[in-house]
Amino acid sequence: MRSLNRRSFLRGSFAFGAGAAAVGRVPRLGAIPASRQVTPMIVTSHENATGQRAVAEAWQILASGGSALDAVERGANVIEADPEDTSVGYGGLPNQDGVVQLDASIMDGRTYSAGSVASLENIMHPSSVARLVMERTDHVMLVGPGALAFAKSFGFPEENLLTERAREIWVRWRESHSSSDDWGPPEHLAGRVSDGGDVESQHGTTNVLAVDANGDIAGITTTSGMAWKIPGRVGDSPIVGAGLYVDNAVGAAGATGRGEDVIKSCASYFVVMRMRDGRTPQEACEDAIEMIVERYRAVGLDFVPAEKFVAINKAGAYGCAWMGIEGSPRMSVRNGEGLSTYEGTAHHPPAR
Ligand code: GLY
Repeated sequence: MRSLNRRSFLRGSFAFGAGAAAVGRVPRLGAIPASRQVTPMIVTSHENATGQRAVAEAWQILASGGSALDAVERGANVIEADPEDTSVGYGGLPNQDGVVQLDASIMDGRTYSAGSVASLENIMHPSSVARLVMERTDHVMLVGPGALAFAKSFGFPEENLLTERAREIWVRWRESHSSSDDWGPPEHLAGRVSDGGDVESQHGTTNVLAVDANGDIAGITTTSGMAWKIPGRVGDSPIVGAGLYVDNAVGAAGATGRGEDVIKSCASYFVVMRMRDGRTPQEACEDAIEMIVERYRAVGLDFVPAEKFVAINKAGAYGCAWMGIEGSPRMSVRNGEGLSTYEGTAHHPPAR
């Protein structure tokens, strides 16, 4: 087989592109006529005051004709910088050694591009680093020290992300070290059944999804990951198809909650594919919960997953669902009708 170096590969790629365009076989993803311009919108799985502020600030970009990509980055940056939020960015709860390790991914539906970082330390905005991986490299994912060196090379300052509040919570956890740590068999095999109540705190994360006036779609998922995780543990958030997926022709979906279930089920990809098959965002999120529960039931476990899914479609519809025992999942929404909080469904597939 003829080996290709990077230069000859690129030459070949361009030649392919030109030829393909000439025979008209490559439709431009997401291209829609001006007559079908859509009203932009943005959502985040964070329904709290920071989530509302995130979509309100990001809306300024969308309302002035900016891109969904810029808007989701702006929204994610607001949440990452909040020191009171113990699940994302600065102030996130650390791993078992007291070190904050961040995961994030970004997808640009307009260009079918993705970037992500995992186990990134000392950088407040992992979603912006993920964007640079997407835009400035030929790779999709950078991890650990490589991701840190990459971020520093683009001028990101190193900062201590462990707030006093998060450090004190970690010290209390260390003192009460118990069967609730992550050593031992997987949670679903250990009889440690999640009640859904810790979706936002122990497994918090945020998804920011947007569609702009051109109908282009983008998304970000960013997190400090599971509190007290084993150092180096990577969750679903930086894994394209698991914690985030965007299809410019359909919509976008993101996950929060126990990343282990989300990785095994490629859940965000599943949600988007359900929407492609005609399901509404709300229905597609509920389908994902059912799919995960059914897989556990198939191996004889009535395990209750602690996940929340949010989704938008290209027409501006949105939905969210979780497997919570109490209460309903909520999300912040900003669209042409204003700023609102949407309440989704707590979905419980009936036991067979
Ligand atoms: N969903 C975030 C995590 O599991 O890390």
